[in-house]
Amino acid sequence: MKKAHLTVQSNSEIADRIYKMVLKGELVRHFTEPGQFLHLKVSDAVTPLLRRPLSIADVDFAVNEVSVIYRTDGEGTRLLSEKKGSMIDVLGPLGNGFPVRRIEPGKTALLVGGGVGVPPLQELSKRLTEKGVNVIHVLGFQSAKDVFYEQECLAYGDTYVATADGTYGEKGFVTDIIREKQLEFDVLLSCGPTPMLKALKQQYGHKEVYLSMEERMGCGIGACFACVCRTGESDTSYVKVCLDGPVFKAEEVAL
Ligand code: FES
Repeated sequence: MKKAHLTVQSNSEIADRIYKMVLKGELVRHFTEPGQFLHLKVSDAVTPLLRRPLSIADVDFAVNEVSVIYRTDGEGTRLLSEKKGSMIDVLGPLGNGFPVRRIEPGKTALLVGGGVGVPPLQELSKRLTEKGVNVIHVLGFQSAKDVFYEQECLAYGDTYVATADGTYGEKGFVTDIIREKQLEFDVLLSCGPTPMLKALKQQYGHKEVYLSMEERMGCGIGACFACVCRTGESDTSYVKVCLDGPVFKAEEVAL
C-alpha cells in the first residue's frame, strides 16, 4: 500500500448520480489485481473526515491512468464529484482483488455485478479475456436511469442487463437472468450489494464462487473494526474486508 497525490484528469456523470473519475499518476504502476480499491481523501477540512473506498474500474498502464466509479449519496461523494484538474490524496492499491491467475484459459467465467459493484468487472473482464478465459456478464440495476458499463462489458463478451423495475433489459434480478438464460460457467465472480451476493452464494455456492464485499469502511488499512464480516456463526470469527478482502471465496464469509 502506498500514499500519493494523483491528478483528477476528468470527473463526469455517466448515469443518475453515478460518476466516473479518471486519476493519473505514478501510483498506477503499483496496481496488480482487478478488484483492488483506492481510499480517496475527499477534502482537507475536518469534516467529512473519512476517506472514501472506491473500487478500481479500469487501469491504463500506458498513460498511468486509473478510473473509479462512485455514486453521490452524501457530503463526501458530493465533494468528490466537484473535483476537476486538482490533486487528490490517495491510499492504494488496497485489498486482494480477484484471483485471475487461478482461472485457466478456456474456462468460462460468469461475472455478476450489481449497481456500483459493476465497475471492477471491467478490468476483471479485460484481464480474463487477455489470458483466454471466456466471459459472460450479468449486470443488475434498479432502473434504466441507473444503467452504465453495458457497452464496456459487451466489448469482452455476452452481456445481460436486468432492472428491478423492468425499465431496461430484463425485468428482475441477476439470479433470474442466470436461471432463465440457463447460463453455464466454471467460475462465478461477483461484486455488489450483500443481498445479491447472498442469493448467489445460496444458489451457486457449490461451485467455485468469489465474492467482493461492499462493506462500510473507516481506515481501509486494518486498523479499525468498521468493515468486519463474520466467517461463521460465532461472533469471534470474522475477517476484515479491507485487509483480508474485499474478495473472498463464497465459503469464507457468512452472509
Ligand atoms: Fe478499518 Fe477495515 S476499514 S479495519
